[in-house]
Amino acid sequence: MFFAKIKEKKLETCVETEIKCHLKANDIEGCIHVQDIFSDKDSISLVLPYYIHGDLSKFIREHTRRKSIPQKESIVRPIFIKIAQALQRLHQKGGIVHRDLKLENILVNFIRLPDGSEVIDPVISDFGFAISREELLNDITTQRCMGTVNYFPFEMVTKVNRFYPDLGRFVQAPSYDERCDIWTLGIMLQMMITRISAFDPDNDQVKPDIEDRIRKLNAYISPEMSAEAQDLVKNILTTPEKRLTLQQIISHPWCRGASFISSSLEILPIN
Ligand SMILES: Nc1ncnc2c1ncn2[C@@H]1O[C@H](COP(=O)(O)OP(=O)(O)OP(=O)(O)O)[C@@H](O)[C@H]1O
Ligand SMILES: [Mg+2]
Repeated sequence: MFFAKIKEKKLETCVETEIKCHLKANDIEGCIHVQDIFSDKDSISLVLPYYIHGDLSKFIREHTRRKSIPQKESIVRPIFIKIAQALQRLHQKGGIVHRDLKLENILVNFIRLPDGSEVIDPVISDFGFAISREELLNDITTQRCMGTVNYFPFEMVTKVNRFYPDLGRFVQAPSYDERCDIWTLGIMLQMMITRISAFDPDNDQVKPDIEDRIRKLNAYISPEMSAEAQDLVKNILTTPEKRLTLQQIISHPWCRGASFISSSLEILPIN
């Protein structure tokens, strides 16, 4: 079964970038693989595999209901690790910055293991805002604030005054790289465990201060989560310089399932 994503040709340059990113992601494990592309007078259709279980937002809603926090963390852990690994490949092998990672843009697949059991296999999807890393770093006009407000990273809402030789003047613009996608992992992790958005904890209908909270790094880290999960989220939702790398995230105690208390306790010989 297939899923057709139909894009209007009016937005041709955006569709072109989306297709380019799709094609680069096509041989990357953990990313959606476009099957075919059709074009007619007014539209371009991307033919994608159909994921019957839908997106991760739906999956988490259905599978973590009435579960305790430790149970939720156990469900979320393997999903989160696989997303971080897929993102690492997307950045390193594909040279792609996604710019709109969120639960709704991760699709849910299951793979059958040799013993007959099934494990969840999340798939990074929706390359609508994606861009090649090279273009992002070399063409300043691509440095725009995009994605979804609750997931906006610090460096996207913090504009800096940079001199642009091509324009011959200083311009106020954000300056970000692929680390913007790592930030969104922090937002997603807390959302999956607690359903609470770090910069919109009350899920306000009026959202004027979200960007301000992000600029001040005033994240709400839910004390309901384990100490390890809180530490991981805290060290992701910080400036790009201090933010954990994907490798550090994958080897963080929360991902290894290790407890802070036991790993920091010295083991004393029994006399
Ligand atoms: N291949 C698929 N199989 C099943 N469901 C899908 C598939 N692709 C998308 N969906 C569902 O449709 C929703 C919207 O799709 P997608 O995120 O690709 O587009 P979008 O956000 O509308 O697009 P864009 O941001 O590029 O305009 C997803 O959140 C997901 O629930
Ligand atoms: Mg989407």
